[in-house]
Amino acid sequence: MPDAAYGVRMRVLVSGGAGFIGSHTVIQLIAAGHDVLIVDNFANAKPTVIGRLESIIGGHLQVHAFDLRDADQTERLFAHERIDAVIHFAGHKAVGQSIKQPLAYYENNLGSTFVLVAAMARHGVSKLVFSSSATVYGANATVPMKEDFPTSATNPYGWTKVMIEQILCDVAVAQPSWRIALMRYFNPVGAHASGTIGEDPSGVPNNLLPYICQVAVGRLEKLRIFGDDYDTPDGTPLRDYIHVEDLAAGHVAALARLTSTDRAVSTWNLGTGTGTSVFNMLHAFERAVGRELPYEVVGRRTGDIAASYADPGRANAELGWTATRTIDDMCVDAWRWQSQNPNGYPDA
Ligand code: UFG
Repeated sequence: MPDAAYGVRMRVLVSGGAGFIGSHTVIQLIAAGHDVLIVDNFANAKPTVIGRLESIIGGHLQVHAFDLRDADQTERLFAHERIDAVIHFAGHKAVGQSIKQPLAYYENNLGSTFVLVAAMARHGVSKLVFSSSATVYGANATVPMKEDFPTSATNPYGWTKVMIEQILCDVAVAQPSWRIALMRYFNPVGAHASGTIGEDPSGVPNNLLPYICQVAVGRLEKLRIFGDDYDTPDGTPLRDYIHVEDLAAGHVAALARLTSTDRAVSTWNLGTGTGTSVFNMLHAFERAVGRELPYEVVGRRTGDIAASYADPGRANAELGWTATRTIDDMCVDAWRWQSQNPNGYPDA
């Protein structure tokens, strides 16, 4: 049945739907009139997120708790359910861990994609939105980054994204009726406006905003700023922070676009187009919390680049989508989530 705002209504399988970006996307898919099924192995997500999602959407969610690498379970899911499209978020995403455990990263991220795509092909499901990353622009790209830049990576996690993009392009050559979207995210932050859904990393956070959140809530002593001697206005690196709600909206728009495009593979940057420094992000968060936060400047982190921000022009033009939330919005929403859930999601 057509929906005025978002085109054709679909039954969408969301892999990794219990995760940070997946959970926010589930909410917006349902708000846009789509039907959603989640598949998640809960390796990096707590089952309690599901109840919170159900409170927000005011309904029941169909959740399949298994690992996509389980080919039998994946086949059964596609055999028993009508699925019109897949959004594939599931995957490991910690850069440092991927360097220590490369085989586990390749095995998990590529293996789950092979099983998923093979099941889609067997069951005639030909629309796929893939959760890629700006990390595919590698270490030497100029800014702003554009979709036609060459791809490369600096760590196994990044290579899994480069490789899966390549694999999906090859699938599209073999099966030209497929419609595939490669979504290259910049730095997703923020949380749902309710404060009940947000980012809940396991262990000590690697990323800037979750780390600042835990300093603000007293779980960590102080922020360590990894270098202030970069060639940037205040010496700290520039990143394109994008509100997870804007990112989620980009997926809904991409799904709609896949129903009308003639291109087998579409690549879209999801970013704001603006680079924000570490100091600017810290100060925005301090405004949200209403007090100064402790920090110290330490040495550079291996692998960090000075500047990474998107040219979001293609997504703006082709998806009719623009990121609208400001850095202050991102910090206010992240702080609402963290202050209401100082220890993240409860275990039960
Ligand atoms: N930073 C600190 N202290 C911290 C954490 C981060 O100073 O405790 C700094 C980093 O040095 C960097 C900036 O904050 O300058 C942002 O770092 P993040 O780790 O939050 O984000 P990255 O840009 O390094 O990494 C993100 C994603 C990766 C992805 C990469 C490139 O987390 O998955 O963007 O797209 F690969």
